Amino acid sequence: MRLKLVGLFLQMALFVLRKIDRLRGTNTGMSAEEFRMDPYENFRRLRNISPIVRSYANQGWMVMGCREAQDILRDARFSSDIHHNWFFLNVLRVGMGGRPIPFVDHPTMLGLDPPDHTRLRKLVSIGFVNSYIQSLAPRIEQLTDELLKDVGTEFDVISTIARPLPALVIAEMLGVPTGERHLFQKWSDDLTGATILGRPDLMRKASDAEQAMREYLMAFIESRTGQSHEDFISLLLNAQQDDDRLTHEELIGTCVLLLSAGHETTTRLIGNGLYALLQHPDQLQKLRDNMDLLDSAIEEMLRYEPPFQMTVRFVTEKTELHDARFSKNQLVLVCFAGANRDPRQFDDPDKFDITRANNRHISFGYGFHMCLGMTLARFEARIVFRELLGRYAEITCLETQPTWGINPFFRDLTHLNVIVLEHPGKHRI
Ligand code: HEM
Repeated sequence: MRLKLVGLFLQMALFVLRKIDRLRGTNTGMSAEEFRMDPYENFRRLRNISPIVRSYANQGWMVMGCREAQDILRDARFSSDIHHNWFFLNVLRVGMGGRPIPFVDHPTMLGLDPPDHTRLRKLVSIGFVNSYIQSLAPRIEQLTDELLKDVGTEFDVISTIARPLPALVIAEMLGVPTGERHLFQKWSDDLTGATILGRPDLMRKASDAEQAMREYLMAFIESRTGQSHEDFISLLLNAQQDDDRLTHEELIGTCVLLLSAGHETTTRLIGNGLYALLQHPDQLQKLRDNMDLLDSAIEEMLRYEPPFQMTVRFVTEKTELHDARFSKNQLVLVCFAGANRDPRQFDDPDKFDITRANNRHISFGYGFHMCLGMTLARFEARIVFRELLGRYAEITCLETQPTWGINPFFRDLTHLNVIVLEHPGKHRI
């Protein structure tokens, strides 16, 4: 009953706050459908108002400028801990209907600030040593080959490779038995629902998925006590810094975070990236003619269609920055996707150009929480695009009207159907 009352109050408050934004001209008035089709137009309009826009409905500010986003993400006065904002915390609490809020009630490094964050990040970084990531290459190549082996000439790229591969790679990293890996994909899909504020059904599914995954991992880690393995969990179990180690609770939270942070994002890099290439045949041809451009093409995919579109921070003290006056506890929505199209930072920002020089996008974040898995993500994308372009002489997109997902934090295509023509004799680039 109490939750219902709080929910009603929050809904009314949001309605009023949106009206205020309309009146002040800081709500672009785009419909949800228009936003889904082209969020970049919305971000452009907002940036034209100011690189940092006051937003009542968002309980604070929206940041669309690149320099401004970077300055906020490396400033300790902007916290990642949601407990600073009562309103937003309760929107989530009500949406979850009394269930635990994923990544909040069982915190991970993503929601912590220094010094707790620094300590945890140092320990977890030990698992991300480059040599370990490199050692995964043959397995990722094998998995990619297996997923594409029998697909025929017409298939959906998302369900065939973009979605399963990153979940399989993380399950492989964690050493999960092959027969249980499908669970990881399901949990990961469900976990993204945690940020869809208008859909309590999906939010609750996310909470249940987190719970199920935690229980699985507790039993899994328990069953391996005293055994030695050469996987990521063992690296983390043995990780040590000045006599400090991860607790079991931290280890479990980190594994759940890795699945969520590493799967949904890499899926979108592959899906959105291929879609961008197919929409720009001149760029695709340029890449086919010179595969040395692949790394630069992947950076441009990341800039142009960031898988993770925005993040949040909370103001810990009254702060003035770039002409904005932030009050304590306000929410700051830092928009990577808006910042990546800032014309003060990128020439011709709406152009998809795989040879773009000086491509300093912030799709992997910036500052304290910059992505720990970016080497792995780039590595996976390199293998998949090499395989797709090496295997198929032609890839034709069948989507005339793409369907984009409803989650504003993660931009994705629900499917990407293609017709392919194999290279004669399966010639590889
Ligand atoms: C294309 C793929 C990826 C993208 C676009 C991406 C993007 C990001 C971004 C933007 C952040 C910072 C969030 C913030 O500041 O609030 C982040 C953090 C993080 N990412 Fe990634 N990520 C990707 C892949 C991965 C992979 C494959 C893993 C690991 C398996 C991973 C693990 C993490 C972790 C652990 C953090 C938290 C770091 C911290 O809090 O210090 N990510 N990622």
